[in-house]
Amino acid sequence: MKFNNIDFDTYLKNYPSKDGFFGRYGGAYVSPELKIAMKEITEAYNTICKSRKFIDELRRIRKEFQGRPTPISHLERLSAMIGTGVQLYVKREDLNHTGAHKLNHCMGEVLLAKYMGKKKVIAETGAGQHGVALATAAAYFGMECDIYMGAVDIKKQAPNVARMKILGARVVEVTEGLQTLKEAVDAAFTAYCNEYKDAVYCIGSVLGPHPFPMMVRDFQSVIGVEAREQFIDMTGELPDAVVACVGGGSNAMGIFAGFLNDPVDIYGVEPLGKGPALGDHAASLKFGEEGIMHGFNSIMLKDENGEPAPVYSVASGLDYPSSGPEHAFLHDLGRVKYDVVSDDETVDAFYTLSRMEGIIPAIESSHAVAFGMRLAKQMDKGSVLINLSGRGDKDMDYIIERYGIR
Ligand SMILES: Cc1ncc(COP(=O)(O)O)c(C=O)c1O
Repeated sequence: MKFNNIDFDTYLKNYPSKDGFFGRYGGAYVSPELKIAMKEITEAYNTICKSRKFIDELRRIRKEFQGRPTPISHLERLSAMIGTGVQLYVKREDLNHTGAHKLNHCMGEVLLAKYMGKKKVIAETGAGQHGVALATAAAYFGMECDIYMGAVDIKKQAPNVARMKILGARVVEVTEGLQTLKEAVDAAFTAYCNEYKDAVYCIGSVLGPHPFPMMVRDFQSVIGVEAREQFIDMTGELPDAVVACVGGGSNAMGIFAGFLNDPVDIYGVEPLGKGPALGDHAASLKFGEEGIMHGFNSIMLKDENGEPAPVYSVASGLDYPSSGPEHAFLHDLGRVKYDVVSDDETVDAFYTLSRMEGIIPAIESSHAVAFGMRLAKQMDKGSVLINLSGRGDKDMDYIIERYGIR
């Protein structure tokens, strides 16, 4: 399928370019020393990860350890409640081991680190899901694991902090700035600069310098590949629309990868938080401009000095002032439409999905659920497939404390 002069038949093979560019976005804006480390990872990825041995091992792990494929569930009661005839479906990444999609790229990244002979993995985490996933992968492969996390997120996501520690990871508290995801990435990158000879940075999303946006997308594309086949098996056709929430954008790129070459409307959902004023949201694609941060060029939210702006969302996994470069590219192309959902709509969706379907969604994923419900009200027929990127156990205490039982 051609869209805006881009051939989506061959898109995943052709993008990013050899230097890691999706059009004007992406690249590797890092120090000469880190350039060497990125080159080492890129070469290892291009050889090791394409080998039959690696592919077979990852396939076995996904089936026997992660519990893949995750199912698709038809939300019959919720669709009936909306009443337009549109049918809602969810891809159940909440049923992936550790309760979110993050393990898909962590098992791949840590397996690669093991093949490269490294002893340690380092990462940042916001909601704690990536930290838990990486700590799990590190335990599985017998690696040391350091996780950098903002002090605010440590308080908000206490169950995930406990899980990381039980799994044997060292959780390093970050007390700079807003003490959330951006500062955690800063701190993890600084640590990696000192340790790259023995360690691999396992970034938590389709972010950072090349090759991370490509590597994480490729590992996450298992979601889209499975979902496309499962949806056709279930219904005999493709969904009319596919929806996912976008923080850095890994769960979204994972499911989108399966449908980019299909006549399917694709929507990424960003957090509008408390509203459109700078500092009250984290909707970088909606309100941001081009800029370089954390080693890559993308669309980002900037303050009056051109620095990454403070951001906010009820969802710790979405409060990042930029999104992956591939999202910026797909946004400019118009192949994916990006929209926003507020905290309030999100909390409503969190409760609605729980009560109508018996699935407690992660507060990040609840953004996609809220948008999927909005879309189903606007359409008069067809189907919407939502990526349910994670389960909401980690959010229950915080939501009840802040919003009460609705
Ligand atoms: C359940 C869940 N969904 C989504 C996200 C957002 O990340 P991404 O946009 O990379 O999928 C997170 C991040 O922590 C998460 O935990």
